Amino acid sequence: MYYLNQGLRFYSTKALCHKQIIDRIIRVDHAGELGADRIYAGQMAVLGRTSVGPVIQHMWDQEKEHKAKFEELMPKYRTRPTVLIPLWNVAGFVLGASTALLGKEGAMACTVAVESVITDHYNSQLRELIALGEDENKELIEVIRKFRDDEMEHHDTGLQHDAELAPAYNVLSNVIKAGCKAAVFISERI
Ligand SMILES: [Fe+2]
Ligand SMILES: [Fe+2]
Repeated sequence: MYYLNQGLRFYSTKALCHKQIIDRIIRVDHAGELGADRIYAGQMAVLGRTSVGPVIQHMWDQEKEHKAKFEELMPKYRTRPTVLIPLWNVAGFVLGASTALLGKEGAMACTVAVESVITDHYNSQLRELIALGEDENKELIEVIRKFRDDEMEHHDTGLQHDAELAPAYNVLSNVIKAGCKAAVFISERI
C-alpha cells in the first residue's frame, strides 16, 4: 500500500509538472505573439504607406496567424493568458511605432532584435518539449517549429532591408533584446 501511495504521488506530481510547463509555454508564447502583432501594427501606422509597407504587412499577417493559433490552443490546453496582456498591448505598439519613427531602418532593426530573441526562445522551448516527450507534445512541437521558421524569416527580412543602417544600431538592438528577454521572463511567471 505504501509503495502504491508513493507511486501515485510520484505520478500526480509528474503530471502536474508537465501541465505547468505546457501552461507556461503557451502563456508566454501567446503574450509574445500578441506583442509581435502590436509591434507590426505600430510599424504599419507609421510606415504603412511607404515602400516597405507590403513587406511589413506580410510579416504582420503571419503574426496574426501565430496569435490566433495560441488563442485557439489556450482553451484547448486550459491555460490562462498572462495578466500583463494590457501592458504588452500598449508596449508592443509603442515599440513598433517609435522605432518606425526612426525610419524604415529603425523598424527593421527592431524586427531583427525581437525576432532573434524569439527564435532563440522557440528553440529552447523545442528542446524542452522534445525532452519532455516528443509524441506527447507533437502538436505544440509542430506549431512552434513552424513559427520559429517564420520568425527566422522575419529576422532575415529585417537584415535585407537595412536594419544595420539604423541610427545607433548596436545600442538600439541591445536595448530591445533586453526588453524582450525581460518580457519573456515576466510572462512566464505571471
Ligand atoms: Fe510570431
Ligand atoms: Fe515574427
